[in-house]
Amino acid sequence: MLDELFDILRIPSVSADPAFAVDVSRCAEAVAASLKSAGASNVEVIKTPGHPIVFGEYQTSVDAPTVLVYGHYDVQPPDPIDLWDNPAFEPIIKVTDKHPEGAIFARGSCDDKGQMFMHVKALEAMVSQGDVPCNIKFIIEGEEEVGSSHLDDFIESNKEKLSADVVLVSDTGIFANDTPSITVGLRGLSYVEVEVTGPNRDLHSGLYGGSAPNPINILAEMISSLKDEDQRITVDGFYDDVLELTSDEREAMARAPFSEEAHKASIDISAHEGESNYTPYERMSIRPTLDVNGIWGGYTGDGAKTVIASVATAKISMRLVPHQNHETITKLFTKHFKKIAPSSVKVKVTEMHGASPAITPTDSPAYHSAALAMKHTFGKEPIPVRSGGSIPIVASFERILGLKTVLFGFGLDSDAIHSPNEHYGVFNYFKGIETIPHFYTHFAQLHEK
Ligand code: BES
Ligand code: MN
Ligand code: MN
Repeated sequence: MLDELFDILRIPSVSADPAFAVDVSRCAEAVAASLKSAGASNVEVIKTPGHPIVFGEYQTSVDAPTVLVYGHYDVQPPDPIDLWDNPAFEPIIKVTDKHPEGAIFARGSCDDKGQMFMHVKALEAMVSQGDVPCNIKFIIEGEEEVGSSHLDDFIESNKEKLSADVVLVSDTGIFANDTPSITVGLRGLSYVEVEVTGPNRDLHSGLYGGSAPNPINILAEMISSLKDEDQRITVDGFYDDVLELTSDEREAMARAPFSEEAHKASIDISAHEGESNYTPYERMSIRPTLDVNGIWGGYTGDGAKTVIASVATAKISMRLVPHQNHETITKLFTKHFKKIAPSSVKVKVTEMHGASPAITPTDSPAYHSAALAMKHTFGKEPIPVRSGGSIPIVASFERILGLKTVLFGFGLDSDAIHSPNEHYGVFNYFKGIETIPHFYTHFAQLHEK
């Protein structure tokens, strides 16, 4: 089971970089082959205007409920590659504090190849034991890390093919290996690139400095004004649609065993930041954010160059919570950002990604099945938690197919997804493979046709 996952991890299926397009397609073929040999039928690699989608299914009985398993085989770029202790696409098992049984180090090990592959191996195990309690359909895409831009169209035009009773996704995490949890909410995303242009060319900072508008200085001032002293986002109308949690809901969240001290230590910071009326844990899950993801302009090479740049650019993400709408937020941001620009510069705002926030029910047969399955294999009832991350397609499954999702992830927040040295616990990988079949057993029993 590890060797086969390692073969998939060796393929650098980086969706963001066109230089890896052939590897992305090769990875789709490898996933399709693994589904076939696990026992799936009608396995297809489907072309899109972007990267291919892998489909496959296992039909057990017309009377059984149908589960649509979603995952992604594409990965984030490995950069900065110098910070990896071992090459990103040469998987290796090493022991860590959080993973005394060992963890698989490789780009995509946790997000999401390792978690997606648990479903392939769970299918194989169920088929070989002659006990597959539900009909299962698989949709494994290659564009999640770049915003799933072609998947909506595919779902729209394949409603019948994808019809199911619930969606099951392992692309999130658990609280800790001794504290199982089920994610019941994801944040949405509005991601923009802003460009501020001053003079028509780079200028001598001595000859022109003092009068020429400096786009880097101005961009920095504009960005700092996007939050007030209490770290509230100042974009007009930004909080209008934010759903406030009830005090009962906030108390339930506060019971999660989140240690602020351990969290600070884990990322080596001496203090958290954020809105004063919310705990650090709440700020990372139930509150919206605004973060600069990258900023550049002017001279950044060795030594010093005296220059006033013509252009400064930044990439900005806003994580959104129910019921914020990413299109509305992008419009509000664009209007606000243009409004606060001094007349000495030109401003351009380009939309990069949009994703809707999602909340999933905890009173459904599917949620109960997931909770019972985890209780069985972890020996403990999982706690419901809201996550700060985004999975754009979850809202689409609901909007287009009317399907709710169960977020059945097994990673840890400390697994360094998107970072150098991403890893996935060997314990987590096998615990997932062990737990998934129990989900199907319970769902076949609890689901009413
Ligand atoms: N699997 C993650 C999202 C995630 C991780 C949610 C852990 C909850 C817990 C997913 O692959 C991801 O990285 N999503 C992107 C979406 C973006 C590229 C549109 C994100 O959240 O930045
Ligand atoms: Mn993912
Ligand atoms: Mn990701």
